[in-house]
This record gives sequence, C-alpha cells and structure tokens, in this order.
Amino acid sequence: MFLRLFKITSCVFVTCVFFLSCKKENPVKQNSEVTPSVSLTPYEIKYPYYFPKLIIPENNPLTIEGINLGRSLYYDTILSNNGLSCSSCHNSTNAFTTYSSNSLAHINLAWNSHFLWNGKISGTMEDIMTFEVEDFFNTNIAKLNNSSFYKSEFKKVYKVDEISSKNVAFALSQFFRAMVSKNSLCDKFFLHTANLTTSQMNGFNIFTTERGDCFHCHSIGLFADNSFHNIGLDSTFSGVNLGRYNFTLNKNDIGLFKTPTLRNIELTAPYMHDGRFQTLEEVVEHYNSGVKHSLTLDPIMTKPGKLYGLGLSPIEKQDLVNFLKTLTDTSFTQNPMLQKP
Ligand code: HEC
Ligand code: HEC
Repeated sequence: MFLRLFKITSCVFVTCVFFLSCKKENPVKQNSEVTPSVSLTPYEIKYPYYFPKLIIPENNPLTIEGINLGRSLYYDTILSNNGLSCSSCHNSTNAFTTYSSNSLAHINLAWNSHFLWNGKISGTMEDIMTFEVEDFFNTNIAKLNNSSFYKSEFKKVYKVDEISSKNVAFALSQFFRAMVSKNSLCDKFFLHTANLTTSQMNGFNIFTTERGDCFHCHSIGLFADNSFHNIGLDSTFSGVNLGRYNFTLNKNDIGLFKTPTLRNIELTAPYMHDGRFQTLEEVVEHYNSGVKHSLTLDPIMTKPGKLYGLGLSPIEKQDLVNFLKTLTDTSFTQNPMLQKP
C-alpha cells in the first residue's frame, strides 16, 4: 500500500502522510500479514458508462486466479454426476447458451439480481451459483477434494484446506462476473468509433422510440431490465407457461418471464422461455402483430396506438432485425479468457 501511494504521487503532502502513518503502524505486524507464497492478481471489470454501476461483494474480490479457477470448474464434468459440465448447455459459440434449448445465455449476469426465466433465484451471483452447484448439479464435493489440482487451486484462491460447495459457488461467481459483452458494433456506435448503416440506424430508431417501444424493457446498456413481463405470447396459461406465477403463486405473475438480454441475440436461437421462435424475424412479427391479450399482459404492449400491433412495414421489420444483429460481439464469444482451458 505504501509503495502504491509512493508511486501515485510524489507530492510533499502525501509523502508527509506516508511518514506519519509509517510511525503509527507496527512494521512487524504489517510484514506478517503478507504471505509471500500466495500472490493473487486483482482483476478489475471495465465497462462503458452506459452500464449500471457494478457491485462486487467484498467477501469475493475478483482475481485472475479466481476467475481461472471458475473457468476450470465451468468446463469440467467433475461438477456433475452425469457427465455434464456447465459448458455442455452453455456453449461459448452461442454466447454461452445452446442451439437447441431454452437455456439462458451467460452474458453480463454480474449486473443481474434475478435469475432463471421465472426468477426463482433472487440475490447475488454467489446465490445463483450456490443453487446451480448444490441443487441443479448436486455436486459431489468429495470428488473435488480428491483432485490435487482443485485442492491446490482452492487453497491458493480461498486459503482453504477442504473445498466446500460454497467455495465452488464463489469461484464460479468470479468467472461469471468476467463474462462481459460490451464490444458489439452497437457499442462502437454508442462510443462514436463506428457508424451504423441506414437500415441499422432505422432499426435503432424503432427500437428506442415509441414506434417499437423495445427499450422500455430491453434497456439501453444491458438490453435487459432485470425484471419480469408478460409480452403476450399466450392468452391462456398452464405448466411452464405460467412463468413467474409458478414461483410466487401470485396471480399477477401469471405469464411473466425475465427479460433476457438482447446482446448476442443473433447467436442464441431459439427464442423465448420455451424456444417457440426459431428466427429474429418471427420474434419481431410477434411484437408487430402477434400479441395476445390476457389479464396480466404488460400495459406497454397495448399502449394507445398499439392496440392492433406495431404496424411495421416489411422494410421496418427488416431494419429492426438488422439493428438487433449489431449487438453481436465476437470478441466476447471468442474471448480467450472465457474459453475452455
Ligand atoms: C442440461 C443443460 C444445462 C446445464 C448442464 C447447465 N445449465 Fe444453466 N441453464 C440451463 C437452462 C435450460 C436454463 C434456463 C432454465 C430456467 O430458467 O428455468 C439455465 C439457466 C442458467 C442460469 C440463469 C441465467 C439467467 O439469465 O438468469 C445460470 C446462471 C446458469 N444456468 C448457470 C449454470 C451453471 C453455473 C452450470 C454448471 C454448474 C449450468 N448452468 C449448467 C441449462 C443448463
Ligand atoms: C414489456 C416488456 C418488453 C418489451 C416492450 C419488449 N420486450 Fe422483448 N422480451 C421481453 C420478455 C419478458 C421476453 C421473454 C419472454 C418469454 O420468453 O416469455 C422478451 C424476449 C425477447 C426476445 C427473445 C430473447 C431470447 O433470448 O429468447 C427478443 C429477440 C426480443 N424480446 C426483442 C424485442 C424487441 C425487438 C422489442 C420491440 C419490438 C421488444 N423485445 C419489446 C420483454 C419485452
């Protein structure tokens, strides 16, 4: 800490503080706190100004070593009892979802506090990872404790001799926080380092104005709102289509689902919680003309002027799809830090 202060400034005042605080500190104690054999490298998540502020819990600071440990776990079948790894269903080329299911993509989840389509888990990244490890995978922790690799990695990152499922959830959380997509063409456009084509620009205008009204829920930045809505996919509901109701048992939640991010949406077909749409064209047609009425339908879907749909022309629909494709970020899907180790 002293060294860092020294580097930051040679200002006389700070130098005075340096000497003053030096007197106050007990140098022996100071030294004994440093464990020379363990050197963790702090890691800072960088993100553009139009993202909400990111909060990292103090009890799980990000380090390169922690992220790498989380990555090893993510790609390792050791976590499951049936030969699966997280990556079996959350594949990097599909922005960490899978091309044949309704699995949610792992994109910018560090900013989320509601997880899964019906929001069954609310809380921190550590909470959802605990659920994934303990409930979804029912991970056999003994297997990890029998691995010399994981034993020494967990000792390094979390200073533990026995690995617990909590440790596993914490390491996975570090990896998930590093899964940041912020480098799409749309981002370059926001940062004035690239232009959109006329068609993409028209789509952007439809998206961000009352014309399409998409931005109310797919807010600029994350392109999600960390909330739940009924967008009129059905007029009667049963089974999984009851959505958030299945978790809250509140009638107002019938048919409500988590708003998924639209980042990398080009790569994450099929769409919606049940994968009912195969293409972005089908999704846009839903919003344009397919909205079904029900008691819990989001009021945004039937705002004045929208009672009979958006009324987009074929060219406008294509423009909207073209804009959605500007959210593809191959520097994310190909980020070496996130690939199989
Ligand atoms: C068998 C396929 C499969 C495997 C393996 C799998 N998942 Fe998932 N994952 C899904 C599906 C499907 C969903 C959406 C389910 C839902 O919302 O009810 C999902 C959702 C999630 C979400 C919620 C994302 C959000 O936006 O709310 C997280 C986080 C997650 N998975 C993490 C993991 C982790 C960590 C592992 C490994 C320990 C893992 N998954 C393994 C299929 C899988
Ligand atoms: C009232 C909030 C709301 C508005 C307005 C809205 N969306 Fe959505 N969007 C959602 C929710 C919630 C889902 C998930 C619904 C489900 O699966 O049941 C969703 C799903 C999607 C999906 C599929 C995502 C995936 O991963 O499967 C796309 C694409 C999409 N919306 C695009 C748009 C576009 C384009 C517009 C504007 C024309 C728009 N949305 C307007 C809330 C909204």
